[in-house]
Amino acid sequence: MKIGIILGTRPEIIKMAGIITLCENEGLDYFVLHTGQHYSYNMDRAIYQDLKLPDPRYNLKIGSSTHAQNTAAILEKAESVLQKEMPDIVLVEGDTNTVLAGALAASKLKIKVGHVEAGLRSDDPNMPEEMNRILTDHISHLLFCPTALARERLIKEKVDPGRIYLTGNTIVDAVNRNIGFALKKSRILQRLKLGKKKYFLITAHRQENVDNKKTLSSILASLETLYNRYNWPVIYPVHPRTDKMIRKFKIRIPSAIKVIDPVNYFDFLNLEASAGAILTDSGGIQEEACILKVPCITLRENTERPETLKEGSNILAGTDPERILRSVEVMLGRKANWDNPFGDGKTGENILKIIQDQFISS
Ligand code: UD1
Ligand code: UDP
Repeated sequence: MKIGIILGTRPEIIKMAGIITLCENEGLDYFVLHTGQHYSYNMDRAIYQDLKLPDPRYNLKIGSSTHAQNTAAILEKAESVLQKEMPDIVLVEGDTNTVLAGALAASKLKIKVGHVEAGLRSDDPNMPEEMNRILTDHISHLLFCPTALARERLIKEKVDPGRIYLTGNTIVDAVNRNIGFALKKSRILQRLKLGKKKYFLITAHRQENVDNKKTLSSILASLETLYNRYNWPVIYPVHPRTDKMIRKFKIRIPSAIKVIDPVNYFDFLNLEASAGAILTDSGGIQEEACILKVPCITLRENTERPETLKEGSNILAGTDPERILRSVEVMLGRKANWDNPFGDGKTGENILKIIQDQFISS
């Protein structure tokens, strides 16, 4: 049995790392195809190095362009690799253009697709990721859902229940595996002169937020308000998309905000775990905040991770400064005694076992 793993962005590397390591340790016949959607050192190599992953067998180096160009380039180039390798199954993770194009390339060659993190829905058709998730789910042969809620969504959409598996989310595997080392080895708190639980950590990169001058300015203004109210440092590792848009819109970053480049995974885990609160529009960071028991304020009107709202680890704050401030107050007043709804950290093992059972018995 041969497994093809397709990935291309920072969160996919982090969430696929456990599965890759297991394939490697168990001597399975597998290969990794990196699309090159993310390529900057701190979005790709730095993460690869922390997670001690072997180099991918293929890198398509597609780089950045429009959605259609990116998706089409991956589709075309991935097809050649898949034709050559002809794996029994292709695994993709999440909701990026890499995921949709990789799944589609496999599906057209009649290669089975396994979707890790299946069944997430924001119900927001304006998000490019929502389209990617829906389409990928509906061309997948095996759907690995992180939670019962995700499973229910798929059943509602008439996906064959026999294809759906409740496995948890591999982000728990990633956090459990790396948090101890990160807390011991990372020196980022000393480097940035941060006191534990006495700073805010921010990330924002969603297209709907940062490609709009008014919305991006509003988020930045809210961070200044936050600093004035709490007098805690505001640490903002800026995603390259956001960096590009700040320059394009010529937005002045308030001096209260400490802007840094994206950091490696160990430093980021340490920054998250030690933060007083996290403000974000990232999907993976909503999950990690919940797992690490750090209050999360989501700078969006919806989330495809409603489990975090139900558990109480997260609140939707949108992008209006007043509402963000109120949401921070609410979250800082909550006890961080919520449960982690994303599984026990054995998701990678569960997924590989399901795949092996399928192919050994078929
Ligand atoms: C992509 C995913 C998004 C995911 C995010 C994770 C899609 C549609 N979006 O968004 O779901 O949450 O990755 O971080 O697939 N850039 C660099 N260096 C890089 C990568 C990007 O400079 O290594 C810059 C380029 O200017 C590029 C822009 O960031 O145009 C956007 O990159 P792109 O991969 O298109 O989307 P992301 O915003 O990263
Ligand atoms: N992350 C990181 N360094 C950073 C910011 C984030 O290692 O400077 C990690 C973070 O721990 C999480 C993942 O990147 O696991 C989230 O990626 P991102 O927010 O880019 O994507 P999303 O999850 O929204 O798709």
